[in-house]
Amino acid sequence: MKIAILPGDGIGPEVTEQARRVLDVLSLPGLTLFEGDVGGIAYKRHGHPLPQETLDMARAADAVLFGAVGDPECDDLPREHRPEQAILGLRSELGLFANLRPAAGYPGLEDMSSLKPEVARGIDLLVVRELNGDVYFGDKGERDSDGGREGWDAMSYNEAEVRRIAHTGFLAAQKRRKRLTSVDKANVLETSRIWRETVIEVAAEYPDVELDHMYVDNAAMQMVRSPGQFDVILTGNLFGDILSDQASACVGSIGLLASASLGERQTEYGTFGLYEPIHGSAPDIAGQGKANPIAAILSLAMLLRHSLGRETEAGRIERAVSTVVASDVRGADLGGTASTGEIGDAVLRALNALA
Ligand code: NAI
Ligand code: MG
Repeated sequence: MKIAILPGDGIGPEVTEQARRVLDVLSLPGLTLFEGDVGGIAYKRHGHPLPQETLDMARAADAVLFGAVGDPECDDLPREHRPEQAILGLRSELGLFANLRPAAGYPGLEDMSSLKPEVARGIDLLVVRELNGDVYFGDKGERDSDGGREGWDAMSYNEAEVRRIAHTGFLAAQKRRKRLTSVDKANVLETSRIWRETVIEVAAEYPDVELDHMYVDNAAMQMVRSPGQFDVILTGNLFGDILSDQASACVGSIGLLASASLGERQTEYGTFGLYEPIHGSAPDIAGQGKANPIAAILSLAMLLRHSLGRETEAGRIERAVSTVVASDVRGADLGGTASTGEIGDAVLRALNALA
């Protein structure tokens, strides 16, 4: 089993270090770890945010554990050299089209939700976000216009792209509460019209899953009004990005939410994937020991489950995390004073207590 670890920028290395400590404690037999540069740090060292060597390392692995990229010192670089291009490049080069972002409330954490405790308690949803299309990958550019400089980003989805992510969504719903809400903007966008029609077509293969549709503006409103109504939310790249950050605030903190990015490639042990917290490099708190490492640790749990077939260990990590999140060991993002390392310590203690 090979894991490529790409810590990246800002708080990326800080939170990834804690996930790595958890991985070390599990001492899985036959596991080899590789570490590579990605993002701003890679640009500074190798002249490119996603060096060929890093891409090759990721390709050769069974799974990638990713931190975050983004460095204010790189803000003025041309787009192709900006750190964020590294994660977009990995997602497209590795064919990772399905982004799974679970968001569930923790007993004892309702006080930290931006929602009323009784509303927050009901959250248990999974955002299934398409990751290889939409405005992030469409034709884009800048031109002169009568109104000054004009930028454009083309949004597009074809049926094949929608179909494969829809299958991911329905399969996930079958393993959960069998409800799928497809989120689009079909009242105004052509991409969304194709999206909706294709999802309806795929739904015929999953008669046991209840499908409904919501416009994204309504979905954003419903998520803060009564998030408990959602099971699986199936949506495109841009809407999924926004709605999952929103879901994190409903749970309590962006530092708690993990994600898996999966494609079609199977490894000996499961599905090849890239795993990362949903947050970014958080330059405002980088280097201060204030980052919550829970999202990174839960990303490791998802990696063990989906790519390495280690459900037992994944479940143990998740139980240990639940114990810590419900305890008084809280980082600044949850109104506490615990440092990144102290939260990692607490997870390791909870893991040992389970063993
Ligand atoms: P961000 O997610 O890095 O930070 C948003 C806010 O949440 C900040 O106040 C930050 O301090 C806080 N936060 C984030 N993670 C936290 C954690 N683990 N514990 C405690 N607080 C946490 O998003 P932002 O500020 O919009 O972007 C910063 C940089 O990250 C940018 O360069 C952006 O492009 C990049 N980014 C990279 C992503 C990736 O690598 N996949 C995803 C999102 C943003
Ligand atoms: Mg985001």
